[in-house]
Parts: sequence; structure tokens; C-alpha cells
Amino acid sequence: MSETGKVAVVTGAGTGIGKAVALALLQEGYRVALAGRRAEPIEKTKTDSGAAASRAIAVPTDVGKPESVRQLFARTKEAFGRVDLLFNNAGMGAPAVPMEELSFAQWQAVVDANLTGSFLCAQEAIRIMKSQTPRGGRIINNGSISAHAPRPMSAPYTATKHAITGLTKSISLDGRAFGIACGQIDIGNAATEMTERMAKGILQADGSIRVEPRMDVAHVASAVLYMAGLPLEANVQFMTVMASDMPFVGRG
Ligand SMILES: NC(=O)c1ccc[n+]([C@@H]2O[C@H](COP(=O)([O-])OP(=O)(O)OC[C@H]3O[C@@H](n4cnc5c(N)ncnc54)[C@H](OP(=O)(O)O)[C@@H]3O)[C@@H](O)[C@H]2O)c1
Repeated sequence: MSETGKVAVVTGAGTGIGKAVALALLQEGYRVALAGRRAEPIEKTKTDSGAAASRAIAVPTDVGKPESVRQLFARTKEAFGRVDLLFNNAGMGAPAVPMEELSFAQWQAVVDANLTGSFLCAQEAIRIMKSQTPRGGRIINNGSISAHAPRPMSAPYTATKHAITGLTKSISLDGRAFGIACGQIDIGNAATEMTERMAKGILQADGSIRVEPRMDVAHVASAVLYMAGLPLEANVQFMTVMASDMPFVGRG
């Protein structure tokens, strides 16, 4: 393993935004721990990085489970010695049905992945960041346009993404004294598996079904790289990157 370059942990690194960001970080010279529940997609991200694969480890992880998250950070520390950046990206939604029809298990799965997962990963990262030399690091939470405004029938997703904003602010405040910066990226309609249904037509607030524009996921990767590349004395607290013409601004 190379001993140069900053160390990043990316959750949900096997697909979509997490994969695009992980590959961009590897390209930039970071050493990266790739996390996700399934081994195959994170191994694929590693091999897709080409020569940079020697600076990556793939660690199958369920971010909603404390022991699994402990192992992810223990493996990262063992391989790379420190953690400079955590991209809290793993996430999921629940089926778009009236909220009274959701099972407790469906609610809990979204809370575990989106909120508990981000908290548990932040805990482990903060423990390492506080004790390492040089001290400190950065945490970037993946929020959403849904951290600001809900889509119809998205209570678990919207509630957890609003909660991420509180987590971001708390980490920023509590991290100040220890050189730990925290920012949030709120994305709207990046073209990933999660947003396939927007290309086909998705339920709008007025009850109509409309196709929504999406943007290339590469724009998210370059935005996260900018946030990550700042010196710790500067921080992007919140950034919104969205498909320009998607319904959000102007209430539709
Ligand atoms: N695409 C957009 O326009 C958009 C907009 C706003 C916010 N976001 C946010 O961006 C993040 C990534 O979304 P995406 O669009 O890239 O969708 P995606 O391709 O479905 O990616 C989600 C990733 O999270 C991982 N994951 C889910 N639950 C997990 C768990 N419990 N433990 C570990 N990993 C888990 C999945 O891998 P495994 O299944 O292998 O675990 C998958 O790689 C999410 O937080 C999403 O809310 C996306």
C-alpha cells in the first residue's frame, strides 16, 4: 500500500454516486476503503479503478449494524493508518405507498441505512480523527433535495434526510474543537439506479405523473471532490447540486 495521499472511507461505494465518488477520489491519489453490503459491487469498483486498485480495500459492511461499522473502520486503520475523509453516502428509499401501509421493517430499514448508518460511521470516524496525528478530518454527509422538500409518499426517506441535516450541524459544532469539519451535499436527480423511475415518469405533488430531467453523476463526483479537497480551515457547510430543470424551486 502507498503511504502517501489522504485516506477516505466511502459507504455505498459499489454503485451510483458512491462508486463515482470513490473512483474520482482514487484517481486523485486518495487511499480509499470501499463499503457496501454486497461484496461484488465494491470489488468491481476496486477493479474498475485500474492501477489505483492497489490503494483501495473493499470491506463488505452493513452501515446499520454497529459491529459491522466497527470492523470497517478497524480494517481501514489497519490498512491505511488514519482516516481523513468519510463520505456518508449509503442510503435507500421505501416503496412509494401511503405511509400507513408501510411495515415497521420497511421503515426501520430506511432509518438504519440512511440515519443510523451515517451516525455510526461518523462515531467511528470521529474517534480516529480525534486521536490521530495530524489530528482532524472531514465528514461529508449525503443529504438530498428531500432534506428540504418531500416527494409524495416518501415519509421514511424524507424524515431521515431531514434528520441528516441535524446530524451535519451537530458534527460541525462538536467537531470544531478537534479539527473535524462536516458538510452536506444535497443532490437532485443524478442519473443512478435509484432515479431510474424519474426517467420513466414519477408521481408529482399535484397527482400527475411526469418524466423529470436528470444530470450526469460525474457532476456529483466533482462537487464532492471540491468539498473534500479544501484545507480543514475551510468548509462547504451545505451544497445543492441538482438537475437544473427538475421540479423543486418554484414549488413545481
Ligand atoms: N441519485 C440521486 O439523484 C440522489 C439524490 C439525492 C440523494 N441521493 C443519495 O445518494 C446516496 C446514493 O444513492 P444512489 O443514487 O447512488 O443510489 P444507489 O445506486 O442505490 O446506491 C445506494 C448504495 O448504498 C448501499 N447501501 C444501501 N443500504 C446499505 C447499508 N445498510 N449498508 C451499506 N451500504 C448500503 C448500496 O449497496 P448495497 O446494496 O450493496 O449495500 C448502494 O451501493 C443515497 O444516500 C441517496 O439517498 C441520491
